[in-house]
Amino acid sequence: MEAVLGLLVISAGLSHGLETSCDAREDGSQCYGALGGTVYLQLTNITGYNELSFYNGPTGARTEIFKMKRDIWVIRDTPSRDRVHFFINNGTFRLNNTRRNDSGDYLLETFSSDGIMWTREIQLFIEAPVSSPQLSSECLSHGEMRVSCSSEGDGPQYSWTLDGQTLRDTETFPVDETNTITLKKGLSGDLTCTIRNNINSDTVSRRISHCPEHSVEISSWAGTGFNVFVYFQLAEVFILLTVCLGSYCFYKKKTYPQEQDDVE
Ligand SMILES: *[C@@H]1O[C@H](CO)[C@@H](O)[C@H](O)[C@H]1NC(C)=O
Ligand SMILES: *[C@@H]1O[C@H](CO)[C@@H](O)[C@H](O)[C@H]1NC(C)=O
Ligand SMILES: *[C@@H]1O[C@H](CO)[C@@H](O)[C@H](O)[C@H]1NC(C)=O
Ligand SMILES: *[C@@H]1O[C@H](CO)[C@@H](O)[C@H](O)[C@H]1NC(C)=O
Repeated sequence: MEAVLGLLVISAGLSHGLETSCDAREDGSQCYGALGGTVYLQLTNITGYNELSFYNGPTGARTEIFKMKRDIWVIRDTPSRDRVHFFINNGTFRLNNTRRNDSGDYLLETFSSDGIMWTREIQLFIEAPVSSPQLSSECLSHGEMRVSCSSEGDGPQYSWTLDGQTLRDTETFPVDETNTITLKKGLSGDLTCTIRNNINSDTVSRRISHCPEHSVEISSWAGTGFNVFVYFQLAEVFILLTVCLGSYCFYKKKTYPQEQDDVE
């Protein structure tokens, strides 16, 4: 039964996407929402105004999303009308099933009972959350290990730890904040990659054991082998030349006295 409930919760979470909320009561607030999820923007305190309008779009080309006057709120006929809600009880705006083009500038206009108008701008960024990072590793020569961490999502930032400790420059290069690092030789332990962006973070761990150095041994052995072979060839040529020269001289020496004998 518990397992079934767990499954239901997960599938509900997947179908509605991630929920984020943002305090947008300050002018110039920057808020982030998960693509396909729900974003809550706290627009106002519930007191201090009589009338309120909420707009989307750049200056000069705004469209009104909703308007509220004396506890009655009206959704304007915009493409997002089926996805918006305003909670009068706490001044929170909700946008469902967000799309990339919901990103942009929003403007809140409030009028107090004596007719004074206040405006506040809000920037909304809709970004894809990071999801299920994957670790892959590969042994390099000299016993180093190249590890990559990958994920989907907008603007991911990476951080690494080994056995819970931040990696130092004696252990890796580059030190941090890239998705691929090279661990120096002989390192082992629990390697963790954390990916985060403006929406969420996710983490992946794997136990790594140090890379064998035999690939290096083979290549250096092959190197000396090659050198020995070259030396051997050179020596062979040298010996051959010496033998040739030696026998030529010997022949000359042997024939010369004969000639002298002939002259005598
Ligand atoms: C809303 O209320 C908080 C604390 O109650 C206050 O600090 C803040 O200035 C108020 N903001 C606005 C926009 O009225
Ligand atoms: C505002 O009220 C709604 C519904 O009562 C609730 O879901 C939401 O979390 C509230 N938001 C804040 C910022 O209190
Ligand atoms: C909007 O999302 C909230 C939370 O995910 C959900 O409870 C609500 O039913 C959704 N409303 C619509 C109109 O889709
Ligand atoms: C926003 O994107 C959706 C699809 O993701 C599209 O159907 C809609 O027309 C777009 N709206 C605008 C105003 O461009």
